[in-house]
Amino acid sequence: MPNNTQFAMSKHQSEIKRVTTHQLQAMKDRGEKIAMLTAYDYSMARILDGAGIDVILVGDSASNVMAGNETTLPITLDQMIYHATSVVRAITRAFVVVDIPFGSYQGNSNEALRSSIRIMKESGAHGVKVEGGEEIKESVERILSAGVPVMGHLGLTPQSIFKFGTYAVRAKDQQEAEKLLDDARILEQCGCFAIVLEKIPSSLAKKVAEEVSIPIIGIGAGPFVDGQVLVIHDMLGITQEFQPRFLRQYADLDAVMKKAFDQYISDVKNNDFPNKEESY
Ligand code: KIV
Repeated sequence: MPNNTQFAMSKHQSEIKRVTTHQLQAMKDRGEKIAMLTAYDYSMARILDGAGIDVILVGDSASNVMAGNETTLPITLDQMIYHATSVVRAITRAFVVVDIPFGSYQGNSNEALRSSIRIMKESGAHGVKVEGGEEIKESVERILSAGVPVMGHLGLTPQSIFKFGTYAVRAKDQQEAEKLLDDARILEQCGCFAIVLEKIPSSLAKKVAEEVSIPIIGIGAGPFVDGQVLVIHDMLGITQEFQPRFLRQYADLDAVMKKAFDQYISDVKNNDFPNKEESY
């Protein structure tokens, strides 16, 4: 028999309305902005979900902020599934999307389907994200054919960083801007439920958000889109070395944590911790 607390918790949880792709579309349609952040572990995801975030992205930026790699390329499908599983365990409301990592979907649509099915089955996530447009159309269609919601990602696509050679703003020239708009239309026609636009001029992002019916989530794409996403370590001020113009830092956790660590080290060294009340 559950005790009263357990009963109260499960009743509360059953009252929480989970975010779905339909709700995200309805948010765009009524002009309500979508708030999305990344998370890679249980504890952070629990706080984020409790705060009422709409979408959590288990981004392959885990390769940078969790593993310390220079790019997103090294992270593996198994590692993404590990992060996603930890995040999903914490969630009661948010929609959880997982990046399919580099090399697990581009080459062949069967592999794309296999990778998505592993992510959905093993982690319990609600959708996947892929980078690219026309070039990966077949993979996107294959994943969608299995009933897996797909989020696209255009503009600065970090998995192609060695092709770009730089993290500079993308699609500033007309040719690239036209290709991006075409790619967004292709992803919409395929049946993607949303698209991330990274680091492109805000005028172009506005045009995409107006011309494409599905939600457009921006990062460094200006205010005229349907929602925003940031990497959680960047917005919390944990990563200090990454300070692009588009980043708004909402906390200085680097300083907060350093202060706590300094105090702890000092307390241990000075035999101030633990005190009598903290001992058995
Ligand atoms: O991996 C990631 O965190 C991302 C966001 C930057 C959109 O793709």
